[in-house]
Amino acid sequence: MNGYNEEDRPVALVVLAHHRSDSLTASMAERAANRLEGDGYRVDLLNLHAEGFDPRNSVADEPDYGDRDKTYSAEVHRHIRRVHAAEVIVVVFPVWWFGLPALLKGWFDRVWNYGLAYGRSRSPMEGKRMLWLALAGLTARDPNADLVASVLEGPLRRGVSEYCGISETHAAVLYDSEGQDLSGEARAEHFRGLVTGADEAVDKLLAG
Ligand SMILES: Cc1cc2nc3c(=O)[nH]c(=O)nc-3n(C[C@H](O)[C@H](O)[C@H](O)COP(=O)(O)O)c2cc1C
Repeated sequence: MNGYNEEDRPVALVVLAHHRSDSLTASMAERAANRLEGDGYRVDLLNLHAEGFDPRNSVADEPDYGDRDKTYSAEVHRHIRRVHAAEVIVVVFPVWWFGLPALLKGWFDRVWNYGLAYGRSRSPMEGKRMLWLALAGLTARDPNADLVASVLEGPLRRGVSEYCGISETHAAVLYDSEGQDLSGEARAEHFRGLVTGADEAVDKLLAG
């Protein structure tokens, strides 16, 4: 007995938005989780699909701008408690139509709600650090690759993280997530590079 209480560890929330447990996205989320654990965090892995999160909004979860203390649905309060408990938030997702998968978009729409994530004089998100880790099918050389980068920089970093008062935000894109037109050793090498890219993104977040 060394008196070390594992509940003393800071919490890292890893949010995974993918319907397949054997997807590259899921493996990157798992890898990020392991790296965070290795750095002393207690990881709360939120697999939105596996947990059956419902991205559809409802009247119960509409913000009431006259009442920042509104009680929302029980599901939303359960989720925001996990967000509030985390010092570090890592969101791992595939880029779909130059944006978030609907499952993940719905999580932000419902859970990052008025009074819970924004709209208070002192932000409930103050002091948190966040990483957006996106997997994109396009290659980094594709003429539309800059559009992926601008989605992370604009709507996600500025529109969500900074708007909610997150203290420090990182963003990284792993391009060519399907290894288009690659085979053999070149393909294997490419995927090793994606893993390295994911590790480096988490390390940057950990370095602060
Ligand atoms: C519905 C859908 C929309 C997509 N839209 C984009 C896109 O806008 N830009 C892009 O780079 N890749 C796009 N892709 C490719 C995905 O990003 C790619 O399949 C994913 O990153 C691969 O990771 P996974 O194997 O974990 O699903 C799209 C894929 C799907 C299924």
